[in-house]
Amino acid sequence: MSRIAYVNGRYVPHREGQVHIEDRGFQFADAVYEVCEVHDGQLVDTVRHLDRLERSLREIEMAWPVTRSALVSIMRETVTRNRVRNGLVYLQVSRGQAKRDFAFPSKAVKPTLVVTARSASKAQLADVTENGIRVITVPDIRWKRVDIKSTAMLAQVLAKQAARSAGAGEAWMVDDEGFVTEGSSSSAWIVGADGTLITRPANGSILPGVTRLAIMDYAAKNGITVEERFFTVEEAQAAREAFITAATATVTPVTQVDETVLGNGKPGSVASGLRAHFHDGLEAISVAAY
Ligand code: PDD
Repeated sequence: MSRIAYVNGRYVPHREGQVHIEDRGFQFADAVYEVCEVHDGQLVDTVRHLDRLERSLREIEMAWPVTRSALVSIMRETVTRNRVRNGLVYLQVSRGQAKRDFAFPSKAVKPTLVVTARSASKAQLADVTENGIRVITVPDIRWKRVDIKSTAMLAQVLAKQAARSAGAGEAWMVDDEGFVTEGSSSSAWIVGADGTLITRPANGSILPGVTRLAIMDYAAKNGITVEERFFTVEEAQAAREAFITAATATVTPVTQVDETVLGNGKPGSVASGLRAHFHDGLEAISVAAY
């Protein structure tokens, strides 16, 4: 089945979707984005994703490209047209097309809005559920506004490629004091000896993950303690378990940090339990009737 993309007001065949060579997203990464999970024909945690988009737009002084409710309709339509039941929907808003100049263009320049959707690979999901992933650690070399979900992600591209080259699934970035910040495209968690879930506070040095909040809600409802505090690579290597969270990964167990295998090298029961129950009670919008 051919894929369809939404580009500036039109649904077009994916391979024909185009933005201009002087789009500010292309030239300056002057753009923000969101990725929402599609689970069983439902858009997961859309309210929080759009709240975060609103914040990202505000922080870079951009207006909504279309109204919030119109954007939800476009996301649903894109998911439907691509017949995605399980996968993700991606949306990106750039400051639009203008002659190259670092400062903002005139207010008359319209933002560029692109929305795509794609199905998840069932084989890959089964593999990470069964085996978890290895993570490597790399220095966090990003700019200081990583709380904005911007497309300026060269540091994360290099981090993820380093993981890929090492045969690992994710790279955890580490600050100058030796504390883990987050994954190249995920939030980082460890599990303490008493089952406490430990993750770095969203104090400006990480992206405030939507999946991270969903885990906190789940933990609160199920009597699981969450501690928001810094942890080092060494603490992660000595932890009972570790895992990552992201809209593209839900909860994915981590079985090895650099050269150190955690526990028996298999996904731990806490992470596996969170993964199994992840969708219980989440806010979701129905999309697909097929
Ligand atoms: N990335 N931290 C970073 C740096 C991320 O890029 C992401 C998500 C997360 C997790 O956020 P959330 O739970 O809201 O997905 C944390 C998306 C999935 C991506 O770029 O593909």
